Amino acid sequence: MKVLVTGGAGYIGSQTVRELVNLNHEVIVLDSLELGHAQLAEAAGASRLVEGNTADAALLDNLFGQEQIEAVIHFAAYKNAGESVEKPGKYFTNNVAGTQSLLDAMLRHNIKHFIFSSSCAIFGTPQNVPVSETNNFFNPESPYGESKLMVEKVLKWYDLAHGLKSISLRYFNAAGASLDGKLGEDWTVTLNLVPLVMKAALGKAPSVKIFGADYPTPDGTCIRDYIHVVDLAVAHVRALEYLQEFNQSNQYNLGTGHGSSVRQVIDTTKRISGSDFKVEEVTRRPGDPVAIWADSSKAERELKWKARYDLDTIIRTAYEWHKNHPNGY
Ligand SMILES: NC(=O)c1ccc[n+]([C@@H]2O[C@H](COP(=O)([O-])OP(=O)(O)OC[C@H]3O[C@@H](n4cnc5c(N)ncnc54)[C@H](O)[C@@H]3O)[C@@H](O)[C@H]2O)c1
Repeated sequence: MKVLVTGGAGYIGSQTVRELVNLNHEVIVLDSLELGHAQLAEAAGASRLVEGNTADAALLDNLFGQEQIEAVIHFAAYKNAGESVEKPGKYFTNNVAGTQSLLDAMLRHNIKHFIFSSSCAIFGTPQNVPVSETNNFFNPESPYGESKLMVEKVLKWYDLAHGLKSISLRYFNAAGASLDGKLGEDWTVTLNLVPLVMKAALGKAPSVKIFGADYPTPDGTCIRDYIHVVDLAVAHVRALEYLQEFNQSNQYNLGTGHGSSVRQVIDTTKRISGSDFKVEEVTRRPGDPVAIWADSSKAERELKWKARYDLDTIIRTAYEWHKNHPNGY
């Protein structure tokens, strides 16, 4: 089928383009290229890259008029939770209004299947871990997380009013690179932990900072569920198949079911890279939940999906990727 992937020149989007192309889907990428790279979309096998913004209604009308697109997978968004606390408007405009513009264009062209990049940030610091989909206590601690929750709510009402069927995939912390070393994350534009640790391991940064070593966790550092980017990409393909088969909206938490602390990520990187880089403990950052990991048994049951890769694979693939791409992409 012909699929539009917004943000398909970015980190997770490009891996998903590749999975779709491997299964003979035709993929068109729409990306502003503000944070993505045309080469990533091309390397992933997209048949066409349209440079543009999801807020551009005329561009979307043209695109949907030209191409017989049957489903949209929507990655395009800003993702820096810390920045969103300082600049909430930037996040609500791009992540919420930009998504609504896309949904409205889809309705004008009768496209009714949508897969949304949601996030564990909608939960904030959960009352219980692991977090399953029965957890209806949403407490985003940043405008970024709030923007994802707002879109999930918009999707509920667009289904009721217009029959637009969507799957929201709430990723936990995406990390790692493709196993063949061809697709990975651009560390010049990301503030995620794994690329920052890689910078230190490869001598591109003087040290790695731990933002808060006094959290109520076993080693004092925050705990996250790091999930390999290829596992996430596969989940999107399964979600697309689910929409085709059941034509029903749904939400899934995607993680490995295990939490790793910031210190564990650092120690694993030191072991795999053999580099004993400097680690600095500094004050907490705003918008950082303490500990969170996923219960992904619903995705396992209904999407027939389960994470295959562990933290060692994440760190090994990330390390190889960054070593070979020292200037980002
Ligand atoms: N990386 C993670 O750990 C993580 C976790 C949970 C959710 N997510 C979500 O997954 C999605 C993809 O994340 P990523 O890590 O690949 O980020 P990324 O920054 O690598 O990719 C996002 C892409 O979207 C593009 N973009 C942004 N706004 C746009 C717009 N309005 N119109 C067109 N293009 C636009 C950027 O140029 C970029 O190429 C995002 O929605 C993010 O919030 C990511």
